[in-house]
Amino acid sequence: MSVISDVLALPNDSRKKTYIVAFVLCLICSIAVSSAAVLLKPVQDKNKQFDKQRNIVAIAGLAQDGVSVSEAFKQVEAKVVDLQTGEYVDLDPKIFDARAAAVDPKQNVVLSKEQDIASIKRRAKYATVYLVKDEQGKLQKIILPISGYGLWSTLHGFLALQGDANTIVGLGFYEHAETPGLGGEVDNPNWKAQWIGKKVFDEQGKIALRVTKAPVADSDPRAVYDIDALSGATLTSNGVNNLVHFWLGPDGFGSYIQKIRQGGGA
Ligand SMILES: Cc1cc2nc3c(=O)[nH]c(=O)nc-3n(C[C@H](O)[C@H](O)[C@H](O)COP(=O)(O)O)c2cc1C
Repeated sequence: MSVISDVLALPNDSRKKTYIVAFVLCLICSIAVSSAAVLLKPVQDKNKQFDKQRNIVAIAGLAQDGVSVSEAFKQVEAKVVDLQTGEYVDLDPKIFDARAAAVDPKQNVVLSKEQDIASIKRRAKYATVYLVKDEQGKLQKIILPISGYGLWSTLHGFLALQGDANTIVGLGFYEHAETPGLGGEVDNPNWKAQWIGKKVFDEQGKIALRVTKAPVADSDPRAVYDIDALSGATLTSNGVNNLVHFWLGPDGFGSYIQKIRQGGGA
């Protein structure tokens, strides 16, 4: 107490008093900020989890009026896949964090320039996939996490496919920093709607899906693979095209998708 009263007794223009008051103020503020960060972490984690579930439910077309997100998400089963082999691995999807794993040298794969069409530099060895099955256990939908560079930012989202691992159920991004009104139009429901029902692979099993500034006419048999690019945002559109190609290709979920298409993946 006497130390405090000694400090308070100092004149206001004393350098010593200024330093002590500034130090004590900084200490109190840093304790307040770090306590808030620690105390709010569980709430933030819960919100993040909820947001991910909300996105998966929306992109996979599982949202229903009067049904809560957590209720709708009960139909979804999460599993962790080894991207190289396409096999499931014994990791808890509630704990496995692919975004953290992607920057951990022990858990990631560095991509060569030729491989890295999504401009992500590295990816985790494993990825969490989300499955929806019918009552007989038949695979209905597969929801794959996707990410890649647009013009200004890395876009993170999900691509949902039907159980045939070929027909698109939906696409959406939950995080990006593209320009609102330009690249940000990746969130436009009308633009996202045109992905629904499109096909990924041609008869030879090659990725034929493309985001293009010159989509073919609806009457053309190729129309089923074409997504009309965003106008005024060709660079973001190219980024989306590239990231979708990456994640559906051999360095992404290619092995896993092949297993499902051959009837052995779910
Ligand atoms: C301030 C500013 C922000 C922009 N943001 C984006 C963007 O988010 N995504 C994008 O593809 N293009 C963006 N552009 C436009 C690109 O520079 C480029 O002109 C555009 O991608 C070309 O698309 P277009 O061929 O459809 O016109 C932006 C341009 C400006 C000036």
